[in-house]
Amino acid sequence: MVNFLPEANWICASGEAGSPAPVFRKSFVLEEQIADASLAITALGLYEVEINGIKFSENVLAPGWTDYRKRVPYQLFDVAAHLRPGENVLGVVLGDGWYCGHVAWRGRQFYGDRPRLLASLRGWLKSGARFAVSSDNSWQTATGPIRENDLLMGESYDARLDLGDWALPGYDSRKWAAAIVAHEADIDLTPALIATRRIEYLEPVTATSHDNGNRIFDFGQNFTGRVRFTVAAERGRRLSLRYGEALNPDGTVYLENLRTARAEDRYICGGEGKEEWEPVFTFHGFRHLEVEGLSANDLFEVVAVVLHTDLLPTGSFECSNPQLNQLQHNILWGQKSNFLEVPMDCPQRDERLGWTGDALAFVRTACFNMDVRKFFHKWMQDIRDAQKPEGAVPYIAPDPDLAKNEDGGPAWSDATIICPWTIYLCYGDVKILEDHYASMEKYMAFLAEHRCKSCIRSHPEVDPWRGFGDWLALDGSGNRKGGTPHDLIGTAFYANDAAIMAQISTRLGFLDRAKSYTLLQERIVVEFRERFVGADGCVVSGTQTANVLALRFNLLTPDQAAVAVEGLVKNIRERNYHLATGFVGTPHLLDVLSEHGHLEVAYRLLEQETFPSWLFPVKNGATTIWERWDGWTPEAGFQDKSMNSFNHYAYGAVGAWMYRKVGGIDLDEEEPGYKHIVFRPQPGGSITWAKTRLVTPFGEAAVEWRLHAGGRLSVRMEVPSGCRGTFYPPTGHDSSAMEFGEGSHQVDIQERREKS
Ligand code: BGC
Repeated sequence: MVNFLPEANWICASGEAGSPAPVFRKSFVLEEQIADASLAITALGLYEVEINGIKFSENVLAPGWTDYRKRVPYQLFDVAAHLRPGENVLGVVLGDGWYCGHVAWRGRQFYGDRPRLLASLRGWLKSGARFAVSSDNSWQTATGPIRENDLLMGESYDARLDLGDWALPGYDSRKWAAAIVAHEADIDLTPALIATRRIEYLEPVTATSHDNGNRIFDFGQNFTGRVRFTVAAERGRRLSLRYGEALNPDGTVYLENLRTARAEDRYICGGEGKEEWEPVFTFHGFRHLEVEGLSANDLFEVVAVVLHTDLLPTGSFECSNPQLNQLQHNILWGQKSNFLEVPMDCPQRDERLGWTGDALAFVRTACFNMDVRKFFHKWMQDIRDAQKPEGAVPYIAPDPDLAKNEDGGPAWSDATIICPWTIYLCYGDVKILEDHYASMEKYMAFLAEHRCKSCIRSHPEVDPWRGFGDWLALDGSGNRKGGTPHDLIGTAFYANDAAIMAQISTRLGFLDRAKSYTLLQERIVVEFRERFVGADGCVVSGTQTANVLALRFNLLTPDQAAVAVEGLVKNIRERNYHLATGFVGTPHLLDVLSEHGHLEVAYRLLEQETFPSWLFPVKNGATTIWERWDGWTPEAGFQDKSMNSFNHYAYGAVGAWMYRKVGGIDLDEEEPGYKHIVFRPQPGGSITWAKTRLVTPFGEAAVEWRLHAGGRLSVRMEVPSGCRGTFYPPTGHDSSAMEFGEGSHQVDIQERREKS
């Protein structure tokens, strides 16, 4: 469908930003029956649209978040069914959203001073006559009950100011003002690829009255969204709703980790019987709700509304260890909570930014749980919009000029290579590589020219900042006082970037470029060994992450690799089978162990229940993934409130290992998109069975295995049509690889008995 929006005008209301949400109304007459009609609409800010009082769109927080200085997505709707002969009304309410509300700690009005609307309705009457209604100064505007709205601060609603049937024909709008035509600089209008929606509803699991007179609700799940309530109280009664992830020891809702996000909705009752309300221009990250202002007898019923980008669920993983099943649940809810418009770091505090490092760590896991192809297409565009002219990629995208260091640093800005490559592998999607290739090349040139000395990236002589290091690791790496050296991380990721670029260039047919990236990778490896591997074969610093990266990115000779594996396992044993890795090392830790002969050590870490571990939060009632291993401990209570989210997906990156190694579903990089499915379950630890399903681009694949007494392993596999699968037996079993075509397959193999 053609985009006819450029013919419309951007319009706004007079009045300050942060003042009540403006309401727009356009009445028009259609002489006869309507044959066809489409509405193209977008806003700088957020919009809620209706025609003749019908809210036909399921989207929320539309049109979403992009760099509004460059582009804004628009939505197209088929609206013929909502129009009729005679008077019709188009009604729109605008919210501040990311455009002029708070963005992280950046404050308000970064992109613009007040919200703006662009809309164009076009169609044909049955007679063949055309009609068109576009936003211009013939639209009327007023303010209504939404007195204030902000994604971080919350929404305030005064039901006494309800405008009645303002979006219906026949409404008296004579006192409304004329909309103002606002001339916008060139903004690209692009068709929306994704949409945020109301995905599910959660009933409270407990409702209590606190001694302080407030009512406190627990929805049993940390999530992102808001609430919808029904209240009956007298006119003018003021309610305040606060949202938090945990409870204080005194039973009130814990708010301290929200930093400057007020996360408070305010409602003034209209007093006419039962009233129902859900804010429309805000969201919160929470599990608990505290309502102030109700008297003991007031009716108040509430349900939670879960919001996130609407993405098809594609994966499921289940096994014999219920704690790991809860971990999978928490990983999934971390993804649900944070895949909202951009891959956010967290949904609750004054941040909610598209942190590149977090997305890079988690992308492979994300591709198992949901179909995130379009989500990443959209976000790679955000990255291109945020890329600096000389090629640097910042640590957040979109970047409302918050990234002080233009370059996001190792393991953050490399998302620009790792994310599209992963999407290509998981979906066979060449387009994302084509769309992004020029940007990746520019990025590689930036690293070579501005961040490296003799192929050592983040070299102290050329890069004063050198990145975040192994963020939040427990060995000092994250605070620059020791731990894994930043230039080691930088150089390891640089080598990996070059290796991936060689692959990407080959797949796109740029063979000369592929060759030069291969040579670059080889040079980086030589320099890496020279600088970071001692004469004794040890990787400097000896941290878990240093050894993990050197092994994972193939930076060592076979002899050095043997020393690194030994060093890694020794470090883990000395910590009594606990990890110490941060955002950078964690996603690769178990892969390195299982690929270098230490599957059992990997399982001990995965099933470890004491701090620090993945299951420690699970044991302590977590329903999402925590930002920090020590977000809460029985000894110290809550971690430093200035940085302590309980809904940060990054450490959930272990999910990919569970799907691939415990479950046993993997892809073949030579035949991306699961054209050739690799079934390679690797039973270990306490696990006696696992069931894994994945909707691939070809259809649903599945694998289910069970260990029986006597060492027999039975495996059932499903191969979707158009694919083939290969079963690789776990080590220690008497069998060789087996190839299958589409359909169901069953394999029974026997564990080899070691002779003692
Ligand atoms: C964010 C991240 C991010 C980090 C960068 C934090 O404030 O929440 O998850 O990657 O900063 O070091």
